[in-house]
Amino acid sequence: MRVLVTGGTGYIGSHTVVELLQAGHQVVIIDNLSNSSHRVLERIEHICRKKVEFYEIDLRHPSALNDLMTRNKFDAVIHFAGLKAVGESVEKPLAYYENNVGGSLNLFQAMAQSGIKNLVFSSSATVYGDPDRVPIDEHAVLRPSNPYGRTKLMIEQILTDLHASDQQWNVILLRYFNPIGAHASGLIGEDPRDIPNNLLPYVAQVAGGRRAQLSVFGDDYETPDGTGVRDYIHVVDLALGHLRALEKITSDPGLLCCNLGTGTGYSVLEVVKTFSRICGITIPYTVVPRRAGDIATCYADPTYAQKTLGWVAERDLLSMCADAWRWQEQNPDGFGGNND
Ligand code: NAD
Ligand code: UD1
Repeated sequence: MRVLVTGGTGYIGSHTVVELLQAGHQVVIIDNLSNSSHRVLERIEHICRKKVEFYEIDLRHPSALNDLMTRNKFDAVIHFAGLKAVGESVEKPLAYYENNVGGSLNLFQAMAQSGIKNLVFSSSATVYGDPDRVPIDEHAVLRPSNPYGRTKLMIEQILTDLHASDQQWNVILLRYFNPIGAHASGLIGEDPRDIPNNLLPYVAQVAGGRRAQLSVFGDDYETPDGTGVRDYIHVVDLALGHLRALEKITSDPGLLCCNLGTGTGYSVLEVVKTFSRICGITIPYTVVPRRAGDIATCYADPTYAQKTLGWVAERDLLSMCADAWRWQEQNPDGFGGNND
């Protein structure tokens, strides 16, 4: 298939592009490089021994997008491009609605005009907010608790309405749990700007000596060791979920919504212990008060993805930590600066 990947130089996008190229698909990436580096492209080409077509396009500027879509014939679009920092979305809601919702509308309009109606969309477990029960299945109540989560839910709703208005639209909404890890080559991985917000990149930077210690946000949750429990999923497993989604779109069209998680939750302290075991370095930490907006426990019921996409996450926490550590050790400064 010839696939357009928005946000393809980002963390999950780059890993998905590698799997797409290795499976024989043709890929065109668009990204505005607001949270990624063009250096990712060389790394992808090195891993796959193939050239990758890239255009620096911002989804908020529809003319370049329309131009690309009319000049090219794509079989499907995988839409990763978006802003994803929860705290920042609370401070700058307009930027999030403009970029995520506005950018997505421009993309869907360009797709409609050029007759491309196959889409896989990056949603998030954040649409569930604080769940009534775990594991979380796709019928759980949707109540995102911050602007970032609401942009994801709005885009899901736009796509649901679009499919209802025109059944030719084939859409798969993928709700990711907590992606971590990196490609086994150590050539691509997560490269957060500034101080990482998420647990794994922070732990990796402490192990690598870039940060002094980890702050554990609360040990008084109702969980086995009192720290927060999450469903960490290897980014390569997540990437492979997108390939299964593309196959599903072509073999059995329609609208689908699937969780992509492992179904197992690990606590902050279990992650720290496993990472420490992998790298042979003690990770110093102190327990600090809970982070505002955090929940105690979140993990997926992944059975629907298995049933409909034939997809299961195969990589365990040890392999997630080992791959994240290889990436950190080989690239202590990530790609060496974003957007340059
Ligand atoms: P990322 O920031 O690494 O990648 C997103 C990419 O989109 C970046 O390269 C960025 O430059 C690009 N982008 C942003 N706005 C754009 C615009 N207007 N036009 C063109 N390009 C633009 O993030 P990621 O972790 O790879 O996440 C990919 C998608 O998955 C996002 O939509 C995110 O919300 C979603 N998601 C991520 C997680 C996670 O934990 N990483 C969890 C659930 C869902
Ligand atoms: C966060 C986002 C969520 C997003 C997800 C994807 C918030 C409130 N939620 O989820 O919307 O979809 O990232 O990446 O930001 N922790 C520490 N110390 C740290 C960092 C994290 O103890 O320095 C703990 C957290 O309290 C949590 C766990 O580690 O219990 C995981 O945190 P994180 O990686 O930020 O992911 P989420 O909070 O699940």
